[in-house]
Amino acid sequence: MFLIEWKSDYSVGVQELDDQHKKMFVLINQFYELMKETKDIKNIEKMLGELSDYGKYHLETEEKLFAEYGYPEKEDHQKIHDAYRAKIGEFLQKKDDALLSFEIIDFLEDWWLGHIASTDKKYQKFFNEKGLE
Ligand SMILES: [Fe+2]
Repeated sequence: MFLIEWKSDYSVGVQELDDQHKKMFVLINQFYELMKETKDIKNIEKMLGELSDYGKYHLETEEKLFAEYGYPEKEDHQKIHDAYRAKIGEFLQKKDDALLSFEIIDFLEDWWLGHIASTDKKYQKFFNEKGLE
């Protein structure tokens, strides 16, 4: 059983971004599996680091496209990304047993599903009208 599964309802109408969202879901599921099966802090830290790096890369991809195409809601959207990066930064500071909490997983699951379904969906029409899909 996967924690989260990408489905076509989550499509934001831009292939590159959908592919990155799918990859993000894979990483979150892997992290969840790891959390369930190990208390090995080193492994958890490593996986959290990968998840953080890929997430940053993805948010930057969106932000570059916002800048390139002059997306009118880019500032509000970026603020939401900034809050996400700050929260992940806090998780990365966690040490030892604090890392074993499922708070991180709960946050990731809620944030990505909610963010894609609400905030990301808003750019679909804009990008599609610009010919990006
Ligand atoms: Fe976003």
